[in-house]
Amino acid sequence: MLGRLNHVAIAVPDLEQGIATYRNTLGADVSAPQPEPDHGVTVVFITLPNTKIELLEPLGENSPIKGFLEKNPSGGIHHICYEVDDIISARDMLSAQGARVLGDGEPKIGAHGKPVLFLHPKDFCGTLVELEQA
Ligand code: CO
Repeated sequence: MLGRLNHVAIAVPDLEQGIATYRNTLGADVSAPQPEPDHGVTVVFITLPNTKIELLEPLGENSPIKGFLEKNPSGGIHHICYEVDDIISARDMLSAQGARVLGDGEPKIGAHGKPVLFLHPKDFCGTLVELEQA
C-alpha cells in the first residue's frame, strides 16, 4: 500500500531561523514561505534529491502544531508523509484494521494541492503519519 516517502515535516518556532539553517548552514534549496491558513501553518519546502523536508511554523491562534512546540520548544520532527495510490481505499483498509484517522476522516487538500489524511500516532509507532494521494 505504501508508496514513496513524500516528505518529513519539522515543526519550528522560528521559520526564518529554520530557513537560514537549511539554506545557509546545510546548503539546501529552500522555497519561499507559503501560508496555509486552512492548516494553521506557514510552510517552506526543502527539495532534496530523493524526498522533501517541510518546515512548519504556527499560523494563527489555533495552530495544530502549537501544542507540539510547547512540548518541543526548539522544534522537532512532527510527521512523515507517505504516498498512496488511492487515498480512499487506503483509509478504508486502515480503518477496517482499527487504525484511527484524524479529523472527520475525509481527505483535505494538502500543501501540494493533493488530498491528504492524518493517522493517529498511537497506532503507528508513535509517529504522526500523513498519507498523500500520489
Ligand atoms: Co505534511
